[in-house]
Amino acid sequence: MKLTVTTTVLLISTVVAIDLDVSSKESICSAASTIAKGVMDYYEGTRYGGVVGMFQQPYYWWEAGEAFGSLLDNWYYCQNSQYQAVISDAIIAQCNAPAYDFMPLNQTVTEANDDQVVWGIVVMAAAEHNFPLPDGTGASWAEMAENVADSMFARWDPDNCNGGLRWQIFPNMSGWDYKNAISNGGLFHLASRLYRYTDDTKYLDMATKVYTWMVDINMLDTRQSPWALNDGANIGDDNCGEMVNHYYSYSYGLMLSGAAYLFNATENEEWYSATYSLLIASADLFFYESVMREYQCYVTGLCNNDQRSFRSLFSRSLGLTTVMVPQTAFPINWLLSASARGAAASCSGGSDGVTCGFDWSKGSWDGWYGLGEQISAMECIQNLLASSASAPLTQQG
Ligand SMILES: *[C@@H]1O[C@H](CO)[C@@H](O)[C@H](O)[C@H]1NC(C)=O
Ligand SMILES: *[C@@H]1O[C@H](CO)[C@@H](O)[C@H](O)[C@H]1NC(C)=O
Ligand SMILES: *[C@@H]1O[C@H](CO)[C@@H](O)[C@H](O)[C@H]1NC(C)=O
Repeated sequence: MKLTVTTTVLLISTVVAIDLDVSSKESICSAASTIAKGVMDYYEGTRYGGVVGMFQQPYYWWEAGEAFGSLLDNWYYCQNSQYQAVISDAIIAQCNAPAYDFMPLNQTVTEANDDQVVWGIVVMAAAEHNFPLPDGTGASWAEMAENVADSMFARWDPDNCNGGLRWQIFPNMSGWDYKNAISNGGLFHLASRLYRYTDDTKYLDMATKVYTWMVDINMLDTRQSPWALNDGANIGDDNCGEMVNHYYSYSYGLMLSGAAYLFNATENEEWYSATYSLLIASADLFFYESVMREYQCYVTGLCNNDQRSFRSLFSRSLGLTTVMVPQTAFPINWLLSASARGAAASCSGGSDGVTCGFDWSKGSWDGWYGLGEQISAMECIQNLLASSASAPLTQQG
């Protein structure tokens, strides 16, 4: 049955599409490179009058961070230096030197904790992969990542809900009274990586404190099987007593890979078991017949620009998990392979014939397009290489 469908699709789309052999690095990198070209179609920073580090409207600053993290993965997994200067120029433009904390003036009216952490994760990866630091930069990549984690942790709010970070940084933003999984899970993820990288127990304590709070308040509901990572809760609703039961792949991914980093660094079985429980929960919600989907909005058919990009960070997190806990490589690569085939088949739209779509279960383009579709497909495909790449560095090398 399935074979017939695939055959039909192959016959129809003889025009252009992205070929992918998931067992060949050359094929994976060629597909990723074609998709990266499509990512750059949305980039402002190399155009006259554009802002370095920003993508065109309507893509927000945080999604630019997500996109540069995806391009950095491409640099690392495929040794593609084509965008190396574009990536480092963007990071340096947005890092807010000399504070190097990713709180640039242009964003300080709207920036939230989850926005800041996505850029923090970019420089964390830059440190772990020894990405060349431009001459004259006044901080190392790792110091920048520490600045992000430290400034976030300084916003820890013990006066409401017994702790946790609020979603927003600025009190006049809507969402100031909301504590959410991506902000707290993002800090957990970054602190876990910083602990492995620096060996400084300050970051182990930070990661543990965030995680414990998330479990205690049932934001990460470990009473359910599989575990559920709720989107967040309002302070005003019984001091975070009423969780919003929405589930997003990137929050699951950051917590999953954060737990994997902590197991790798501590060898504490508790983190091994958390890694597995989060992987089971992720597989349950975000894969349907082995193909990755953004569950929450896929079922309603209403995915906004942000949500259409979440699978890029999710895929990146799955790749990192295979490296940190090698026992997960088999099941994760199985899921990534099926999804990557679907993603590549979806990249057959637009006027270039290689524009990526949103629904990877169709075997063809579904009519959706955008920066989120491009970076999600690219990360899913290139993260097939994660488990065979060399491990992220630590400060010791
Ligand atoms: C801030 O916005 C202005 C106006 O769009 C732009 O010229 C400048 O390059 C931006 N700076 C950063 C760091 O994005
Ligand atoms: C929040 O306050 C800042 C100044 O402190 C202001 O520039 C900004 O427009 C305000 N934002 C909203 C959404 O009211
Ligand atoms: C930590 O990661 C490295 C690199 O992938 C791996 O060789 C090692 O086995 C991992 N350690 C644990 C405890 O899983």
